[in-house]
Amino acid sequence: MQALILVGGFATRLRPLTDNRPKALLPILNKPMIVHLIDKVQGLVDEVILAVNYGKEQLEQYFNEHDQGIPVILHPETEPLGTGGAIKNAEKLINDTFIVFNGDVITSLDVSEFIRFHRNKSGMGALALWEVADPTRFGIISIDPNNRITRFLEKPKPEEIFSHLINAGTYCLEPDILDHIPGGRKVSIEREVFPKVLDRRLYGQEFKGYWFDAGTPEIYLETHWKMLDYQLESNELTENIGQNTMIEPTVKLVPPVLIGKGCVVDENSTLGPYVCLGDNVRIGAGCKLSDTVIHDRTQIQDNVTCDGAILGMDNTVTAGLVLQQGLITGDGYTIDEEFLKLTSS
Ligand code: GDD
Ligand code: MG
Repeated sequence: MQALILVGGFATRLRPLTDNRPKALLPILNKPMIVHLIDKVQGLVDEVILAVNYGKEQLEQYFNEHDQGIPVILHPETEPLGTGGAIKNAEKLINDTFIVFNGDVITSLDVSEFIRFHRNKSGMGALALWEVADPTRFGIISIDPNNRITRFLEKPKPEEIFSHLINAGTYCLEPDILDHIPGGRKVSIEREVFPKVLDRRLYGQEFKGYWFDAGTPEIYLETHWKMLDYQLESNELTENIGQNTMIEPTVKLVPPVLIGKGCVVDENSTLGPYVCLGDNVRIGAGCKLSDTVIHDRTQIQDNVTCDGAILGMDNTVTAGLVLQQGLITGDGYTIDEEFLKLTSS
């Protein structure tokens, strides 16, 4: 069995965090988003195919440097082919039942249970479903009492909503669906393919836990905290402080907090609730951080207060600053009085 992950798009809503890195490589709880998905299928598939356009070189470099224990094949498109076109483009690599993930979702879905569901129903495919209050940004689905999908509508207008169950962006498909995707052009699987193959039997399975489409800074932060809470509740988080991290005894950690490897936190600082530090981050003395994610190697000098920010890699924050809610920086930024004046005006 294979897994195909769709990795397209420019992730403009996460700029400047995505100025130098594709969204798939942005960390969530110190692990790239794409690796969260690869981990979901470890032991279940023989290889992972990434259907990529933007960010191919960085992804290539990442996987050359970080072995995943299963082959990860990058399959590029010369131009964006849409969700259906990207799947069709990988046709010659697919020889059996396959799993598809939208590369921008973070989910607690149990993939082996999902595969079992698909095999039991033995339709042309199965879609994972998630319930939301406002489904207008998604594809909505209705199912009959036997879980067979009866209707599908992508991005419904408020007056068109017939279901609050959405397409959660994970499918288990039989290869014959590829015969229903036109080749050589841009195709949306949601708009052009799924509605047309309902007579070939597609099934939907709702699951519980968490699910995010982490496309905005607010949801990026929320994803961290909901997952951290979930991992703590389900005892999945065994260690919340990485190796070789040094925390002064006077530091107050207010859980939940996740700290990477090789960090230093100086005296009298307070971290948390809800703080995630990447690897080799340095926090000076007397800092107060909450609701904040900081990526690798960023240095925060003394007496900085920060609530509700996302800081990229290799930033420097000068002493005594109060960072405002909603601040988001790219990689290699220097944050000083001048910078804050410019961003607040
Ligand atoms: N390779 C490739 N090429 N990938 C693509 C392309 C493309 O041309 N276009 C989109 N993708 C990838 C995106 O990077 C993303 O990971 C996934 O396919 C879905 O595309 P989005 O553009 O993020 O779609 P959406 O979020 O508006 O809607 C989709 O996801 C929702 C769940 O998050 C649909 O599948 C909805 O039905 C669904 O509810
Ligand atoms: Mg999306």
